[in-house]
Amino acid sequence: MTYENIRLDKNEGIAIITIDRPSKLNALNSATIKELHKALKEADAAKGIKVIILTGSGEKAFVAGADISEFADFSVAQGEQLAAEGQAKLFDFVAHLSTPVIAAVNGFALGGGLELAMAAHFRIASENAKMGLPEVSLGVIPGYGGTQRLPQLVGKGRAMEMIMTAGMIDAHQALQYGLVNHVTSLEELMEFTQKIAQKIIRNSSVAIAAAITAINAGYEDGENGFEEEITQFGKCFGTADFHEGTQAFLEKRKANFPGK
Ligand code: COA
Repeated sequence: MTYENIRLDKNEGIAIITIDRPSKLNALNSATIKELHKALKEADAAKGIKVIILTGSGEKAFVAGADISEFADFSVAQGEQLAAEGQAKLFDFVAHLSTPVIAAVNGFALGGGLELAMAAHFRIASENAKMGLPEVSLGVIPGYGGTQRLPQLVGKGRAMEMIMTAGMIDAHQALQYGLVNHVTSLEELMEFTQKIAQKIIRNSSVAIAAAITAINAGYEDGENGFEEEITQFGKCFGTADFHEGTQAFLEKRKANFPGK
């Protein structure tokens, strides 16, 4: 598959998806959202890919938001459809992917950019990163899950303040808020993120997928996270990975997970 607005590189179990519109600070137009959906699907289905890293091209931006030039003259119905389609194709899709997705935030992550980073399973930022949901400064609200995921990650009061002021926080404040897990220099960001990905790869991908499902269930309306955990926990006992993991422990050797 060839892509125009993104790059997809697969190497040693890791797929790196780079949003590649640096002249527009990697803003998400509808073509980029479609390509991201396809690339995520391709990486998730690729044999041997155990972790996906999302990042932005260049040294300035992860993603500076949804492409404002595309929706400036939209109607109420078109606005609603934009949010619904984007959430289904990209943001919820990322959050529910069974392959772990890490956002390596290498600069501005604004609006849809921060919403994409928040849809990822966790985030690592470089020191130059700036994060915010500036939508109310444009007369609109976050529509790609931002009003839900920001409070989940940083707490309701902080999310209210960030959204109402339309302000940006820097990487260190994001770390203090728990919005990102680590902060590195820009030069070290990808290497550091890949080291964390390598730690993930050593573990059972089947168990990790079950953990993602159970963790997400606690944040879904009408689902009971504890019940989902019981179901997923039980399912693990029927997997080859569980058999291998427990046998390897008992035989005092490293597990070699078949990923089934
Ligand atoms: N949508 C469309 N184009 C965007 C964009 C967005 N969200 N963010 C940046 N761009 C474009 C700019 O229009 C400019 O294009 P041009 O060179 O053709 O004029 C280019 O990217 C570079 O951006 P510029 O504003 O010149 O860079 P800067 O360093 O002066 O400012 C930002 C950087 C991030 C502060 C500024 O680009 C910005 O505020 N962007 C919009 C952020 C936003 O509101 N996002 C939420 C959208 S819902």
